[in-house]
Amino acid sequence: MTSILVVDDERSMRDFLKILLNKEGYQVETAPNGSEALTLLGKHSFDLVISDIKMDGMDGLELLSSIKEQSPALPVVMITAFASPDDAVFAMKNGAFDYISKPFNVDEIKSVITSATSKTLALDEAKSISAQFPEIIGESREMVKIFEMIQRIAPTPANVLIYGESGTGKELVAQAIHRHSLVAEQGFVPITCSAIPEDLMESELFGHVKGSFTGAISDKLGLFQLADKGTAFLDEIGELTPIIQTKLLRVLQEREVKPVGGTKVQHVAVRIIAATNKILEEEIMAGRFREDLFYRLAVVPLRVPPLRERKGDVPLLVDYFLKKYSNLFGKEVQEMSSYAMEVLMSYDFPGNVRELENIIERGVALEASNIILPESLTLSSFRSETSGSAQQPQSPFQIVANEEELFDRGLEEVMAETEKVFLNAALKKSGNSKMQAADLLRISFRSLRYKVKKYEIG
Ligand SMILES: Nc1ncnc2c1ncn2[C@@H]1O[C@H](COP(=O)(O)OP(=O)(O)OP(=O)(O)O)[C@@H](O)[C@H]1O
Ligand SMILES: [Mg+2]
Repeated sequence: MTSILVVDDERSMRDFLKILLNKEGYQVETAPNGSEALTLLGKHSFDLVISDIKMDGMDGLELLSSIKEQSPALPVVMITAFASPDDAVFAMKNGAFDYISKPFNVDEIKSVITSATSKTLALDEAKSISAQFPEIIGESREMVKIFEMIQRIAPTPANVLIYGESGTGKELVAQAIHRHSLVAEQGFVPITCSAIPEDLMESELFGHVKGSFTGAISDKLGLFQLADKGTAFLDEIGELTPIIQTKLLRVLQEREVKPVGGTKVQHVAVRIIAATNKILEEEIMAGRFREDLFYRLAVVPLRVPPLRERKGDVPLLVDYFLKKYSNLFGKEVQEMSSYAMEVLMSYDFPGNVRELENIIERGVALEASNIILPESLTLSSFRSETSGSAQQPQSPFQIVANEEELFDRGLEEVMAETEKVFLNAALKKSGNSKMQAADLLRISFRSLRYKVKKYEIG
């Protein structure tokens, strides 16, 4: 049953909403202010919060920012006075799902609640489907689509062509298809087409008989015999030479292979998953890839999107790799500073998930404290923009010019200075709104207020 928390300081309003929503089949709890709401949120799980803005003590906007910090996925609908549209805009900017304005229109309330709770459902679905692919991290809409596609095609014998930029996880997807297939108990045999010289490729694919060429000292099975009844994974398929392409096409058409130097053909039943970071259509246009082979391989084409198109997965991946590498290195690095996280969120990841993994691995290795700071991030394309040019304009965020100055002034002083510079920058950007500044800095309103007092800013 969908449960809703209603927060309003006016008793009549709480009662009104409770009766209305109960009648619609929702379970409803109420709280008269922000702090009691937080207490309830700590005790029970809710699918939606509806909160008034103007309340004594912790008001609705403060409540909103605390909720967004603790459970960013929980939708919050704000109740605003018809007369103060600024509140509504502010609430939306700060993560409110939507707002309803007083006086109420009952149909409007119902429709806002329906869409807010169905969004939660979508997130639950994302979590439950991604749980079936524990080795592939991601809950973004793009990844959910891939998971659904894998579930749909895995049990069929159709050949699959996986394409996408380098480092997006194509090989993981190929393994997942095999694992969810009807031949999961059989072999998954990978081969990297670019890694094998052309004169050995035919034997690697189809095997050879003893004595068929110099060095063929015994019979050898090829990929197709090894993967028989299972799955063959042909990685970097775009690198196959024309001769091998032709031979491969024949095998796909006839479902038979003839080992090099052999006379007998062998029947094979192999599902082929191929992967490439090239655009094969372009290769076909340029005459480098056989169109008929393409159609045999790409019965089901599956695109793995680059990481920059699914930034929402970055925090999950960061967590996953932090755990992986702090375990591996026996370190306690469990967190990313919020500024470092912001840097990552604004980065393009030309090397996709592989690059993110390398960044975290290096960060964990380099970091002496238990939290990764921006300095420990090595981002390839950011670095290449700045390296080499000595006359970089000095950033206002650069607190010390060099190591000597740091040691001279000491960590306490430099940290305090750093905090002051960032607090001022955020306050300036937000037009002196503490709430918004706290959000920009990804700290709680409370801790911002504390720091502002401490440094006597503003
Ligand atoms: N969604 C993901 N969750 C966890 N790890 C991932 C994910 N995607 C990629 N990785 C990791 O990133 C690295 C690169 O993934 P993978 O080898 O599958 O990429 P690829 O698309 O085959 O790249 P290439 O085209 O360069 O061969 C691997 O270490 C893999 O484990
Ligand atoms: Mg690969």
